[in-house]
Formats: sequence, C-alpha cells, structure tokens
Amino acid sequence: MKSTYESMKLTNTENDPKERIDELTLKLTEANSAYHTDDAPIMSDYEFDQQRLELIKLENLYPQFKHENSPTGKVGGDTARGFRKVKHAQVMLSLDNAFNNEDIEEFEKRIKRFLGLDDDYAITYVAETKLDGLAISLTYLDGILVQAATRGGGDIGEDVTENVSTIKSIPKRLEGSPEVMEIRGEVFMEKADFEQLNQAQKVLIGKAKKEGKKNLPKLYLNPRNAAAGSLRQLDPEITRSRNLSFLAHGWGKVSAPLGNNIWEAINQLNSMGMPVIEDRELCKGSSDLISYYNNVLVKRADLPFDIDGVVYKVNDLGLQERLGSSSTSPRWAIAYKLPPEKVWTTLQDIEIHVGRTGALSPVGKLKEVSVGGVKVSSVTLHNEDFINALDSRGETIRDGKEIKIGDTVEVYRSGDVIPRISDVDLTKRPEDSKSFVFPKNCPVCGNVAVRPEGDAIHRCTAEYECEAQVLGKLQYFVSIDGLNFDGLGIKMIKQFYDRKFPDTGERWIESPGDIFLLEENLKAKNINLAEEENWGERSVQELFSEIERKKTVSLAKLLTAIGIRHLGSKNSQLVADHYQTWENFKLAVDKAAEEDEEAREDLISIGGLGEVIANSVIDTFQNRVFNEWIAKLIPELKFTNPQSDLAESTPVSGKSLVFTGKLEQMTRKEAQVKAESLGARVYSAVSKNIDLVIAGPGSGSKSKKANELGIKIISEQEWLDLIS
Ligand code: IVH
Repeated sequence: MKSTYESMKLTNTENDPKERIDELTLKLTEANSAYHTDDAPIMSDYEFDQQRLELIKLENLYPQFKHENSPTGKVGGDTARGFRKVKHAQVMLSLDNAFNNEDIEEFEKRIKRFLGLDDDYAITYVAETKLDGLAISLTYLDGILVQAATRGGGDIGEDVTENVSTIKSIPKRLEGSPEVMEIRGEVFMEKADFEQLNQAQKVLIGKAKKEGKKNLPKLYLNPRNAAAGSLRQLDPEITRSRNLSFLAHGWGKVSAPLGNNIWEAINQLNSMGMPVIEDRELCKGSSDLISYYNNVLVKRADLPFDIDGVVYKVNDLGLQERLGSSSTSPRWAIAYKLPPEKVWTTLQDIEIHVGRTGALSPVGKLKEVSVGGVKVSSVTLHNEDFINALDSRGETIRDGKEIKIGDTVEVYRSGDVIPRISDVDLTKRPEDSKSFVFPKNCPVCGNVAVRPEGDAIHRCTAEYECEAQVLGKLQYFVSIDGLNFDGLGIKMIKQFYDRKFPDTGERWIESPGDIFLLEENLKAKNINLAEEENWGERSVQELFSEIERKKTVSLAKLLTAIGIRHLGSKNSQLVADHYQTWENFKLAVDKAAEEDEEAREDLISIGGLGEVIANSVIDTFQNRVFNEWIAKLIPELKFTNPQSDLAESTPVSGKSLVFTGKLEQMTRKEAQVKAESLGARVYSAVSKNIDLVIAGPGSGSKSKKANELGIKIISEQEWLDLIS
C-alpha cells in the first residue's frame, strides 16, 4: 500500500506558493466543515491527510502566507474529546526484554542461529541507554516537520503535531534530510523539570481548592507520567509551558538510506540537526554488551533523566533486514532492563503508623534522597520480622542484617511503588546505632497491641476506640475504595475529625454518619464553614452537594466502604447479591451472632466466603461503637434498587477484564474502579475466562498469553473510547 506521503505532488509549490496555500486552505476548510458539521465528506481521509500535510509544509516554509484561520492551526480533524488518529506508515514495534546476562548471551546465540553464523563471528552492536518516556514518530517532508504521532497500539497512534511543535528540542526544519523521513524517538521530562512542575502543580492545587474548583490539578508520580500527561494536553499552550525534551533513537519510513549501518545513520541524523541519544557505544559480542550495561548502572543516578534499561541493536542494516521482526518486536534488538534504582542514605528514625485495621506499621524516616528523580524521605519497613531480617516464611533476608536506627541503608523504588529498603551497610554502622523495639502498646491510644501467633503484624486491640483506627476508617469510607467522595479527601476528613464543637466537645465528624449530618450540625451550632480559612461559599456548596449525592448508595458499595476487616469489594458484592437489602443482611448477621447455625452457615457459604470473613463480619456487628455508627448512618442513606445495578447495561457490563502494562492517563486503581462501576470484573491474571485485555506499553507476557488464547487486546486509548 502506498503511504500517505509517497504520492504527494509538490510541483505547484514552486510555481506560486501563495496561490497553492490559498487553494489548499479553502479546500480543507470546506472539507472539514463538510465532514464535521454536515456529516457529508467531500474527500477521502487519504486525500485529506495528504493535502493537510502539504499545507503544513507550505505554511512552515512561507509563514507570511498562512491564513489566520488555517485548517492546520485548529485541532483540525480532531475528535471533540481527543486527538485525530494516525495510521503509522510502518508499524511501531516494541522491544523484547532481557533481565540478566544469560538473556543477553542467549540473544546473541539466537541471532547467530537465525543467520547461520559461526559461533566465533563477532557481531557489532550499537548499545545505548533506554529512555523512560513516550515513543513518538516525527514525519519530515523535505526537511519540514509535518506530523508527530504517538505510538498508540503500534499500528495507529494519535496526532499530537501541535503539542509536539511546542517542544524546543524538536527541530521544525532539518538540513539535508531525504524527501520523506520518519524519525522515532522518545519524549521525556528531565528529573529537575519534573520536580519543578510538581512544585508548580502544588501551588495550583492550593489555589484551585481555595476557589472551590472540582477538577483539581494533579501531582505527577514520576517524570514519565508527567511527560505523558503534559504531551496529551488538549491545549498545546499547556504542553508548551512544561519543559519536555526529545531524543531520537531510530527511524521508520525514509525515502533514501541514512547510512550503511545504525551508527552512521544516527550520526547522519545528528548532523542534520536532530538531537540523538548521546550515550551510545559500538560493542562487539555479548561480553562488550554486558560491560556497557555495568557502566550505565554506575552512572545512571547522575543522568539528568530517567532511564529504565539499555538497548542493543545489530549495527549492520543488511543483517537487520535478514533478521526481520516477530509480530511484536524486531529480532535484531533487545532491551536489557535495569534493576529498580537504588540509593544509599541514613535511617534517622523509625515511627509507628496505625492504620484503619489497627495494624502497627513501622515507617523508616530517612535523610532525604532522590531515587529515580523522586525525593524520598520515608520508607515502609513492613513489620517487626522485616526489621529483624526475616521474610514472611521466617527465612533470612539481607544476609541476616538487622535494620537499626542510624544505619546506612539502601533504598529503592520500582515503578510507582512505595520506596523500600533492600540492604544495610554494616561497615557504616555507627557505634550509637539502636535496635528498634516494637511497642507493646498502640502509640496512638495506648491500648495493648498484640501480634497473634503465625502473624507478622502487631495490631492495636482497641478497634473503634482507637483514634488512629477511627480516623483511618473514616478516611477509607470517603476514599476511592469506599464511597469515592469527590473533593472530600483524607486531609479534609482529618481536619473535620480534629475540629470540635465548642459547646459539647464532640468532633465535627467522628463516625461516617456525621459526614451526612455535617451541614445540619454546623447550622445548628451557627458555624459558617464558608468563613473558615481555605473555604468559600462555592467550595462549601460543592462539598454539601457531593455529600448529598453520596447518600444514594448500593448495598455492595456501602458494605465495602464501612471497612469490615477482610470484606473487600468483590466479597461485598457477593454478600449484597445474596441478601439484596440492608435489612435482610443485618437480620442474618444478628442471627448468626446469636449462634443460629443456619444463618451462620448461610453467611459462610456465600460464594465461598469462608469462616474468617464471616467471623469478621459477625464480630464487627458485635462491637458497640460500630453499632452506634450504623445506627446513625443507615437512616441517612437511600439504597439503590439491587436489581437496577444489574439491569444497567454498558459496553463492558458482565465482562472480565485484565489491565496490564503502564497506563498513561490514569492509575491502575482508577481504571479498576471505573471498570467495576461499569459492571465489569477486573482480574490480574490472563486466563481463558477473560474477555478483554487492556494493554499499555511493557505488557509483555500477559499480552502474549492473551494473544495465544485469542483474547481481544486493546490500548488504553481504545479502552477510554469504548467506555466514553
Ligand atoms: S529502539 C522496535 N532505542 O522503548 C523498537 N527504543 O520498549 C526499536 N525506547 O517503543 C526501539 N529508548 O520508544 C529504542 N534507545 C532506545 C530507546 C527506545 C527508549 C523505547 C521506544 C520503544 C520502547 C520499547
């Protein structure tokens, strides 16, 4: 098939560029309006794309002739919600991964086997760093940038030309490039720019909160996430304000070869004015490749940007051609993943945090360090055993090295997970280092904390009488796992928990029911929230409207939100499906508590709930304070009709899904909650019972398995389109 660019006729250009610009502007404007407004296209998508690219090129060459309302300047053919789709002239593949030196040796052997080369033949490779950003394809016609597209699913990406045009390091013109040239590379954000962006976001969040805005700006998790978020802005001016960078690492379709091998071609690209990955070496054989990797490991932390591996590519383009590609990745290249980044720092203290279930979690306070571009000052220490160098099976970890306060410890972060400690440097242990003695009492309420036999966790026994547990339960109630209140988060709950009414000394919110009674109670005490610091009329109104909305709830959601230990969202759904109404459920639990064996068995057997969960439900309903909570809460709520939840049909209701790979526009949690709210079930493993897999970049083994099982795989964007 001919590519979009191949048959472009540019002859008119030389004759009279102004005339041609006028002509194309008129035609494309008409075509746009016929397509979008009248729903009656007057030219094919192919023709439209061709002429649009030609116009972009001419406008770049002769900006003085560009029309103010040029159809190229608008989001043009973009859909109302997002970006126009672009079919890549050549599929954008992904890379196979290697995780250890043996994988690299195997990679080299595989290539030799495939090509029928002798064992002692020395293959030359280009080794370079693997940037942790977003893959972008840039199309240049006669050296002029005309199109930028994301990778998307590999076949079809999104047209982000306008946004990419705002990135300073991307040349809009290249000297001496072939007629048609598609460059591939990575858009990313440097660590320092990422820090700065998040600082600025914090200020914006504070401001938006004050103004009572609902859609608050967000903090980005890491530089990659920030780069993705910044590039996919519908307003290119926002992209411009974010400091994005770009480095090229390859090419797609080119009308003339760039060199005899990769090394030459990349140098050639660089001499045209294209920024390329500088950390690049020629290597012979797997031993060179492995030493390149070891060198990168050492300098990684000092690089201004995040990398997540190194890439090796067979240098000779003739060999590359012979090796070809599998359906997902070229046989001539491989990525050797770096282990999660590790940094040494000192452990200054250990604090105990008490969560909603009463678990006492040790948190290490660190001398602040930057790990993978993200500042880290605390780490989870999991439990007493972990500090004492034992894993959950009682086996030794870290060569038996205990963690003491004052120690020099190695900290790592992998993906989005909370930082952890991987090692202790005993040679740096100070004389006055201290072993941590796990408290026998809850540090918040002072009640006894016990560590049951066979369990690694110490737990405060005060349950609903421990302030930390109560606060944790309230925060859980409003969180995304609970009723998911918009604009009422962890911090606000803490503020309302800490505030007390002057006359009675009661807290503004001390149980979930108080959330729904807040407006009424404040009014009764003559307190005007809008006059408080950080509040205003609008934000107060928004809050109370949201609380009002949340009064309507399904039984399953409520059961999850009240946070009965062990009863998660899936089991809550089973219980709700079984009992249908709160009254039936409450009656059954009360009976079970009164030793009614039939009721107890019934509860245990729901979808295989089991004794532990059933007992936890029964015990919770025996608790005095919990019963007070319930008595206050239930009258405030309106339950949705249990049948109506099931009847509502969405494109994914009843479907079983798996999310895999990196998601760029939402967190895993958000994706799951959204999918479940649309009636889908979300699983972590791919099996034959799965209907659909949503795969982001790096979804190697799960996508492969889904392919083998013939399960449909879609990209994150396709998922968003499906459910929009
Ligand atoms: S070469 C067939 N070189 O990694 C793809 N890719 O996991 C050949 N990446 O989508 C890609 N740095 O966007 C190559 N130095 C580098 C890279 C690199 C980052 C990205 C690329 C690709 C992804 C695959």
